[in-house]
Amino acid sequence: MANADTLSVGLFGFGVVGEAVFRVIQQTPSLAARIVKICIKNPGKPRSIDASFFTTNREEILGNEEVNVVIEAIDDADASFEMVSRSLAQGKSVITANKKMLARHLPELIALSRKTGASLLYEASCCASIPVIRNLEEYYDNDLLVGLRGIINGSTNYILTQIFERGLGYAEALRQAQEKGFAESNPSLDVSGQDAVNKFCILLTHAYGILAQPEELPFTGIENIHPIDREVALAERSQIKLVANAIKLPDGQVAAYVLPSFVKPMELLSRVHEEYNGVVITSALTDEQFFYGKGAGGFPTASAILSDLSALRYRYKYEYKKLMMQKPSNLCLDVELDAYVSLNREEKLPAGFFEETYEYFTGRGFHYRKGRILLSKLMEDHWWKQDGVSLILM
Ligand code: HSE
Repeated sequence: MANADTLSVGLFGFGVVGEAVFRVIQQTPSLAARIVKICIKNPGKPRSIDASFFTTNREEILGNEEVNVVIEAIDDADASFEMVSRSLAQGKSVITANKKMLARHLPELIALSRKTGASLLYEASCCASIPVIRNLEEYYDNDLLVGLRGIINGSTNYILTQIFERGLGYAEALRQAQEKGFAESNPSLDVSGQDAVNKFCILLTHAYGILAQPEELPFTGIENIHPIDREVALAERSQIKLVANAIKLPDGQVAAYVLPSFVKPMELLSRVHEEYNGVVITSALTDEQFFYGKGAGGFPTASAILSDLSALRYRYKYEYKKLMMQKPSNLCLDVELDAYVSLNREEKLPAGFFEETYEYFTGRGFHYRKGRILLSKLMEDHWWKQDGVSLILM
C-alpha cells in the first residue's frame, strides 16, 4: 500500500492517457510521486521521453518492491485484469481507467482489494474529468437517490454534435473523434454503446450497490440513427443524444438502460455538446444536480487519475457503502417507457412490440411509430438493434 511519504508509480501504457498521466505527474511536484517504470507493448514506436523509463517486461513493475502504486492505462481488458489483480494481490495500490475490465470483474476485484487492504481507485473510468464516482460513493445516500441520467461517452456525443450541428458525415465525425484521442482504439465500442454501458455498470455500483454485467442492461449506440430521425427530433425542438438512465422505482428496484433519447431544450443534458459528458443526479431532497465536464481525452482523463493518486496519500479506498452497508437495489425491467422506432421496412416491427401507439408515419423507405413499450421486451429479442431500425426514447 502506498504510504504517506512515497508514491512510487509503475505505469502500464503510454498511449493518449498514459502519456498525459506521465506529463501531469512530472509537472505536479506537490504530489511527490515518481514514475519508476513504464511498461509498453510496442518498443519500436517513437517516444517523446527518455528511453530508460520504458520496459516491455511487466515484471519490472509487478515484481518491483519499490513500486507501491500501479497506474493502468491500457485498453486490453484481459491484460488489464491480470495486471490489476496481481498488483492488488501483492498489496500495491491500483489506479485504473479500464472501464471494460472493471465492468466485467468488479466483484472479484472488490473482494481482492478488501482481502489485501490495497486501494483500487478508478475515477477516470467514468466521465473522465467529472468526479462522479467519488460523489456517488461519498455524498449520495441510496435511499435518497431517485435518478441518475447522463451522457457518459464523449466520442458518441462528439460525433452527434458534428453530424447534427455542423453537418459532417458519420465517417468523418468518427475519424475526428479518433484523431482527437476521444475514441477507444476499437471505436465500435463507442458507437455501439458498449463503452457507455460498461461505465454505467460501474456507476450503478456506487449509486445503488448494483453489481450488474453490461449485458443485463438494455443498450445500443448511435450507428443506426437515420437523418430523418433528426428531422423528427427537430420538429419537436429536441436533440438526439446517447443517454444512460437509471430510475429508482417506488419498490426500491432500479430500471437502468443506455439508449439514444430525444433530449428536450429544458433538460440539463441538452447543454452537453462535443466530447463533454454530463450527469444529472436527482435526489429526493435536492431535486436535480448537474455534473458537467470533458468526458474523453488524455488530460481530462489524467486529471481524474491524478486526483486518485493524490487520494492515496491519505489511503483513500472506496467503501462500497451502498453494497456493504445499505440494502443494495436490484435491477428491474418491468417498466414502461415512451419510445420512437423508425424502420426502413415496416415489416421489421414485430407485432405487439408497442403496448400502445400514439402516432405513426409511413412513407417510401421510411416509417416510424411512437408509443409506449415495455423495457423487458428489449431484452427478449434484439431485433431493434438490426440495420435499418432506430429506437429512440422520448
Ligand atoms: N472512448 C471514451 C469516450 C473515452 O469517448 O467516452 C473516455 O472514457
